[in-house]
This record gives sequence, C-alpha cells and structure tokens, in this order.
Amino acid sequence: MAEPRGLFIVFEGGDGVGKTTQLALLAEHLRRAGHEVVVTREPGDTPAGAVIRRLLLDPATGDLDPRAEALLYAADKAQHLAQVVRPALERGAMVVCDRYVDSMLAYQGAGRVLDVAEVAAIADWATRGLHPDLTVLLDLDPALAVGQIADKDRLEDAGDEFHLRVRQGFLALAGADPDRYLVLAARDTRERIAARVAEAVAARQAAVSVAPGRLAP
Ligand SMILES: Nc1ncnc2c1ncn2[C@@H]1O[C@H](COP(=O)(O)OP(=O)(O)OP(=O)(O)O)[C@@H](O)[C@H]1O
Ligand SMILES: [Mg+2]
Repeated sequence: MAEPRGLFIVFEGGDGVGKTTQLALLAEHLRRAGHEVVVTREPGDTPAGAVIRRLLLDPATGDLDPRAEALLYAADKAQHLAQVVRPALERGAMVVCDRYVDSMLAYQGAGRVLDVAEVAAIADWATRGLHPDLTVLLDLDPALAVGQIADKDRLEDAGDEFHLRVRQGFLALAGADPDRYLVLAARDTRERIAARVAEAVAARQAAVSVAPGRLAP
C-alpha cells in the first residue's frame, strides 16, 4: 500500500453550527497552499450513499428503528471509506469531511439512547477503525442553531432534548480524546474560527507527516 501522506480532517457538530462554511474555508486555504483537497460528506457522498441519505432524511420514511438507522449510517460509512476516503488519503490528498463517526455516536448513540459503545463497535467495523487525524467540533447551543432552520428535515425535527443529548454526546467524545479534537465556540466569527482551524491543521500536519500503518488494514 502507498505511504499515507494525506490528512483526514472532519468537521462535527449539531445542525446549522457552520460546519459546511468552515469546511469550504479550510478547503480553499489548503488548495491555496498547493494541496489536493477532497471535500466530502457523510452520509451520502457515493451513489449508494446518496440513496441511503435520502432514506434517512426524508420525513416520508417515518419512524425508523434506532438500530436500523445506525446500520444505515454504518453502511454509508463503509461505502464512503472504500470508495472515497481511503483512495484519496492513499494518494496523499487532504480529505475534509462534513461529519463522520462522531455524528453517528452522538445522534444514534447519545441522541437515540442506543449504547454508545455498541454503536462505536459497529462504526469501527464499518470503517475498519480509520480515525480522523483531526476533528473540529463546532459547539453551539442547539436552541440557537436548530431554531434558525425553518424547513426541518426528519432529524432536525427530533425535538429539543434530543439535540441537547447530541451536543453533550459530541462534547463527551471530544473530552475523552482531547489530542484529536479542536473544540471551538461556533458563535465566534467565521474568520476567527477558520484561523484556529488552519493553525490546528498545520500543527497536525507537522505531527503526522508520516504515520506508518495509519490506513491499515
Ligand atoms: N461563524 C458564523 N457566524 C454567523 N453565522 C454563521 C457562521 N458560520 C456559518 N454561519 C451561517 O450559519 C448558517 C449555517 O451554516 P452552515 O450551513 O455552514 O452550517 P452546517 O453546520 O453545515 O449546517 P447543517 O447541519 O444544516 O449542514 C449559514 O447561513 C451560514 O452562513
Ligand atoms: Mg452543512
């Protein structure tokens, strides 16, 4: 297998906290620095994933059993890693991903009250244990973030307590592994957040320039 040189950077956080905004700013910054950048998202960035995403977000799907929901996310991840993320990292690209395993743990674990460790085991199996080099968690009171969305999809419409549990779920994950996370207050300005992210990515690049076995098996 080719020596992995790319970095896997993930943006996490609740709905409407600015993930996509920051993802685009980081991608632009990295491209200006001469990197190949692959911008991707979960769920949905493969042909099979797009079908899974529609099923998950469509209000017409109605109630999904939490385990069925978790398995659909896991299926999307397995396909996404195999088709998009691993090939890009193997050729040295910077992969910048809008949501990853933590969203599954926060939404299907903390949010849906499944056992987080069980969900983590399924996610680990689906992703063959590939962890991001850096996860940027944009943290914001869900009353502010979700409240601004007029036209809610099935998950956004899941209720205040659900979104509070999701926020706590994200913060617990970051707290358990502080070296891999950059937690930022999403209410800060776009520019200040982008600058902090760029700094953290540069530090990570210096630290993880060559990490044998990172993409194994
Ligand atoms: N730092 C910021 N300050 C104020 N507004 C912001 C900031 N960052 C993003 N926004 C605005 O907030 C809204 C949501 O941002 P964005 O779509 O990037 O969030 P998201 O986390 O990707 O949302 P979703 O979960 O719906 O995908 C957009 O209108 C965006 O322009
Ligand atoms: Mg978004």
